[in-house]
Amino acid sequence: MLSSVNRILITGGAGFVGSNLIALIRANNPNINIRVIDNETLGSFSVIAPFEVEAVKADILDTASVEKALVDVDAVVHLAADTRVIESIEDPEKNFQNNVVATFQLLQSMRKVGVKTLICASTGGAILGEAPSPVHEEMVPKPLSPYGASKLAQEGYCSAFAHLYDMKIANLRFSNVYGPLSIHKGSVVATFCRAILNEKPITIYGDGSQTRDYVFTTDLCQGIVNAIEKEVSGVFQLGTGIPTSLNQLVTTLSEVTGVDITPNYQPKRDGEILHTYCDISRAKQTIDYSPQVTVKAGLAATWEWFQKHHGS
Ligand SMILES: NC(=O)c1ccc[n+]([C@@H]2O[C@H](COP(=O)([O-])OP(=O)(O)OC[C@H]3O[C@@H](n4cnc5c(N)ncnc54)[C@H](O)[C@@H]3O)[C@@H](O)[C@H]2O)c1
Repeated sequence: MLSSVNRILITGGAGFVGSNLIALIRANNPNINIRVIDNETLGSFSVIAPFEVEAVKADILDTASVEKALVDVDAVVHLAADTRVIESIEDPEKNFQNNVVATFQLLQSMRKVGVKTLICASTGGAILGEAPSPVHEEMVPKPLSPYGASKLAQEGYCSAFAHLYDMKIANLRFSNVYGPLSIHKGSVVATFCRAILNEKPITIYGDGSQTRDYVFTTDLCQGIVNAIEKEVSGVFQLGTGIPTSLNQLVTTLSEVTGVDITPNYQPKRDGEILHTYCDISRAKQTIDYSPQVTVKAGLAATWEWFQKHHGS
């Protein structure tokens, strides 16, 4: 439940995490006003239209639009970002503008308008680089991409603003999120589901033993809701705390879909981290974060959604 707020602003709310968050909030809190600011570069307002949101089509780099969107808002969930690591390597300047400059401007606009609570999407893997698992919040960051560096810069400014300007700002370091409403995503689960539906081969780079921490959308979004409610500051890992190898993921996907999948193994890609999963103790203790969905149940729900929306 969200009892502490009347209106929230979600930047990037038309995207994958945003649309799942809106669905969860609407299901439990029919009376909350949800305002979304999104430029629709990747997401689409059509996806969230059924959930009665106030849609503001604008770029978050446009300060005037952001300040207007902040009026009468109790809390902001900041999801808008360039989320793609490869693109950030190709064009680090664009990534810096969209992720660092826009976040800094948002913080300044919140100060100006007087909005005190902010939840930001961050990332564990890209900030920490090659680090021994389970990764946790006390590890020394070592980003290996402009995307990772941008999220670390975001966390730095949030820390300073929370400390100096009486704001409550949480940075939630998402692990690998999967679930419905991810048709546009290049993540592993979305890519595999699309491949199965299109009867294309599933490609695995390396021997498939590499592990990740796959967190289902409802668990992650409940973590975001809890963070809004608790009004906390700091950095929190949100995953499941459980590593799953790519080979395990494919085996489970075979069970769930009933399709016999024989992956096409290709040489390992340079720079890919082999094993990563996160320690979620801090989020458990501080924001009552408690992921419930097993990979099998989450994949089944995701597959059901992909089947229904294939070709739409
Ligand atoms: N999906 C994951 O596995 C994952 C993992 C770690 C962190 N994150 C973070 O979570 C957040 C949400 O990710 P997602 O998977 O929903 O991505 P997404 O690309 O589906 O959604 C991002 C949304 O932001 C919008 N957007 C981008 N730049 C904008 C701008 N300048 N102005 C206005 N709108 C803009 C896009 O149109 C899109 O709707 C991002 O900050 C991402 O870095 C995601």
